[in-house]
Amino acid sequence: MAEEGSKWVVMVTGRSPTNIAVIKYWGKRDEGLILPINDSISLTLDPLHLSATTTVAVSPSFSRDRMWLNGKEIPLSGERYQKCLREIRKRANEVSDEKQGIKIKKEDWERLHVHISSYNNFPTAAGLASSAAGFACLVYTLAKLMNVKEDLGQISSIARQGSGSACRSLYGGFVKWAMGNNADGSDSLAIQLADETHWTDLVVIIAVVSSKQKETSSTSGMRETVQTSALIKHRAETVVPVRVSKMEEAIQNRDFASFAKLACADSNQFHAVCLDTSPPIFYMNDTSHRIINLVEKWNHSEETPQVAYTFDAGPNAVLISPNRKTAALLLQRLLFHFPPNQDTDLSSFVVGDKSILQDAGVTSMKDIETLEPPTECKDKVPYQRFTGDVSYFICTRVGSGPKVLTDETLALLDPITGLPK
Ligand code: ADE
Repeated sequence: MAEEGSKWVVMVTGRSPTNIAVIKYWGKRDEGLILPINDSISLTLDPLHLSATTTVAVSPSFSRDRMWLNGKEIPLSGERYQKCLREIRKRANEVSDEKQGIKIKKEDWERLHVHISSYNNFPTAAGLASSAAGFACLVYTLAKLMNVKEDLGQISSIARQGSGSACRSLYGGFVKWAMGNNADGSDSLAIQLADETHWTDLVVIIAVVSSKQKETSSTSGMRETVQTSALIKHRAETVVPVRVSKMEEAIQNRDFASFAKLACADSNQFHAVCLDTSPPIFYMNDTSHRIINLVEKWNHSEETPQVAYTFDAGPNAVLISPNRKTAALLLQRLLFHFPPNQDTDLSSFVVGDKSILQDAGVTSMKDIETLEPPTECKDKVPYQRFTGDVSYFICTRVGSGPKVLTDETLALLDPITGLPK
């Protein structure tokens, strides 16, 4: 290794997507190792719209491990961060940086410290599982920096120990988190079912629902469910195994009707086991329920499901449509029922892939006021509109897995000081 007092900094920047489960993870059989009581399946969302970017740097001039999240220094002392750092360090190998003329030997990693800076391209306050993208990105990028040779499945098993659902963000496309059987958790890892090119027609619209109330964290919520719910055992042992194999089949066959029925049923059962917890946990609110009603009414008015909905541990709706045409009709309905507050501008109300707006025939805020009521609720006069109940919409799609960003201008740490830019 180059001399101790020298100024070199070696760094890597990575980007990891977030994911949304369509067969839900709820309940652990081992709290320390984060081992789930059932398999789960997710869609990886386009990192362009929903991702974490993380730069990790190593230098002999660093005196301790440090981390900055969205520009603010945060403690790395938490057990979840410590586990991820420890597990990756254990697997570190020799690294050569030819440009700087540096060789970091395998045994050097134990005493070298790292700086980490991470940034989420969506508000953490939106309640969109930022820790899944965050831990996936941290573990993936550290593994690249330290030249870890293990495959993505094994890397996902380390990310799992930071945040359970993070393991599914190690792959793009459609991913299963296999619960595994081993007591040490070595077989509880992510498996890619199909990559992001498999089913490109799907459109995902996320309704970020305004919520004043503080939600129960997923960690304590699932612990309370496992301890008190009589339904959770039935769900984990009897319902989910059948749904997982049917969902795998629906994804393989691009069978949207089956996909939608399974995703909606599983979201509803997850919220039912939350209600079955003592004291009951409410993650959805009135707006979430209204969105379910509008989708159910629309789906039942057609021959086959038009949209799938799924809700995580919060009130936001994740809506999946089989193609752009249907997504445009969905967006019309959503904008009709949940228009923005006055003086909001359209470009901040619908973000991500805004081109769906053109397909929906909405090019200005004025267009939203003049939208026609959906045909399936023509019988209901006056039409109900809930202004401001949705903060904004994110239009996105199924996307790719983690990547190293080679463009040095995207690094979040200064290449000389190793401190946030
Ligand atoms: N938790 C939430 N966002 C995160 C990120 N980007 N990195 C690590 N942990 C996080």
